[in-house]
Amino acid sequence: MYKYTEFDEAFVRTRTAQFREQVARRISGALTEDEFKPLRLMNGLYLQLHAYMLRVAIPYGTISSAQMRQLAMIADRWDKGYGHFTTRQNIQFNWPLLNDVPDILDALADVGMHAIQTSGNCVRNVTADHFAGAAADEIADPRPVAELLRQWSTDHPEFQFLPRKFKIAITGSPNDRAVTRAHDIGLRMIERDGQPGFEVTMGGGLGRTPMLGRVVRDFLPRADLLPYVEAILSVYNAQGRRDNKYKARIKITLFEMGLEAMRDQVEARFVEIRPEWTGEDQAALAHITADFAPPVFRDGPFGAYEDARASDPVFRAWADTNLEVHRRADHAIITVSLKAHGETPGDASSDQMRVLADLAAQYGYDELRISHEQNVILPHVHRADLPAVHAALRAAGLATANVGLISDIIACPGMDYCALATARSIPVAQAIAERFAETERDIGGLKVKISGCINACGHHHVGHIGILGLEKGGVESYQITLGGDATETAAIGERTGPGFAYDAIVPAIERVVGAYLAQRDSSDETFVEAYRRLGAAPFKAALYDADQANAA
Ligand code: HEM
Ligand code: SF4
Repeated sequence: MYKYTEFDEAFVRTRTAQFREQVARRISGALTEDEFKPLRLMNGLYLQLHAYMLRVAIPYGTISSAQMRQLAMIADRWDKGYGHFTTRQNIQFNWPLLNDVPDILDALADVGMHAIQTSGNCVRNVTADHFAGAAADEIADPRPVAELLRQWSTDHPEFQFLPRKFKIAITGSPNDRAVTRAHDIGLRMIERDGQPGFEVTMGGGLGRTPMLGRVVRDFLPRADLLPYVEAILSVYNAQGRRDNKYKARIKITLFEMGLEAMRDQVEARFVEIRPEWTGEDQAALAHITADFAPPVFRDGPFGAYEDARASDPVFRAWADTNLEVHRRADHAIITVSLKAHGETPGDASSDQMRVLADLAAQYGYDELRISHEQNVILPHVHRADLPAVHAALRAAGLATANVGLISDIIACPGMDYCALATARSIPVAQAIAERFAETERDIGGLKVKISGCINACGHHHVGHIGILGLEKGGVESYQITLGGDATETAAIGERTGPGFAYDAIVPAIERVVGAYLAQRDSSDETFVEAYRRLGAAPFKAALYDADQANAA
């Protein structure tokens, strides 16, 4: 794992010391909330419905056991004993007191963590495939590149005040688990004629105007990455709209300029700045890459795993859904579900965080990952250890066997926490999970994603079933989209029609699922495959013909 250098350490400590002063001035009244706002946003501190919220970066989702333990300590000491893992590989603390935030930032710095650029109109936390370095299908580990991008973009003098926030995601596998097409820049590591490089997409984003990223370069040699990303950002910085917040993202700049014209400007800028890059970045990348060397994997038989599979149906059910193929046959990747039926998706208590830290230390080469699907990953576990890990997870309420199933829902905080929300999303997720707890294995792979307003933090546009909570005439109204896809075959879901009231949304989802079960080819055909084959019509009929009265 990447370790902070002296420079990183000094930078983060200085930032915290500055923020301590700013907080003191806010508390004394020397700064108004308006004056304080840009300062706190530089440090990941939001003001929410009930309290401040601190968003801490977990760069490319990678975290050690010591860091996880520190998050647990922070949750206990300065929050309410839990944290919320988000779709952008961050953790959010929902209840910190302003006075305590500088101490929290110091505690984070003690373990090489920070909250810098987790808000504001800058390059945000760079996200990556949560199975990076472990997945069997990987071409190359994307994390060194993500770390390079983080170092380059942190406090970049030209890009601290972009027209709007800017999100970069990277995958090192052809199976895109990082939702690259929904990011301002998406990077796919590829090879051409034996040379490593990237396919670069630009202008993806969700929010009120969802768009998938467009390919701006189908092959970018590895050494050209930073100058090319800089060229994109510099064109966006100059051309992006600052007159209207809702039209300020690069997706709108791209849409308004057209792909060809914008690409021409990016390429021209690239030619201009490329000579300035004389190789220091590649030297830095080589240095960073060494930090991501894989652990020394343990050899050994794994009969204990085969035995547990054969004799324990609970273990087998969990292994079927929550394990992923590792690049080594004697290891597995574990996804620990933070979606226990009826709980808040993505929340972990401090005790659970400590259990995860202990398991990573004992069985997982000290590595953990946070996925954009709001789960925690143990990326490298020897198969012989899987029964013991499963038992420990079970004791901690962390062994829900539902990864990829209908209850493995992404949901944003919605009306329960968020000042921008127009509807609740957490209770809808909880109700859906409880409703399908018994039947979800038969239903099979199905991704439900819920947002509590048009900003789409819950990725509803790319859910197989997307739910968007709005407010209509003073009451919550939930719109359904179908057929969205967050992977390499990315698609924006199609709206089915009028929305449903809060009480009617779970029955509506039941009807959609019922239509799928009735019409699927076989249990091998997943929901989204059936949707692609059948189109929207049978699902709309199930939603609206049966019970028009529910349509609000
Ligand atoms: C609770 C406070 C939050 C606030 C005030 C907030 C605010 C926003 C806003 C205004 C947008 C729309 C940006 C645009 O279209 O230009 C947005 C998008 C987004 N946010 Fe949040 N958000 C919050 C929490 C979260 C959480 C908890 C997550 C992760 C679970 C998240 C992840 C995202 C994602 C993935 C998008 C859409 C992707 C895109 O940028 O196009 N946000 N957020
Ligand atoms: S989608 Fe809306 S309600 Fe949900 S977290 Fe984002 S801004 Fe808040």
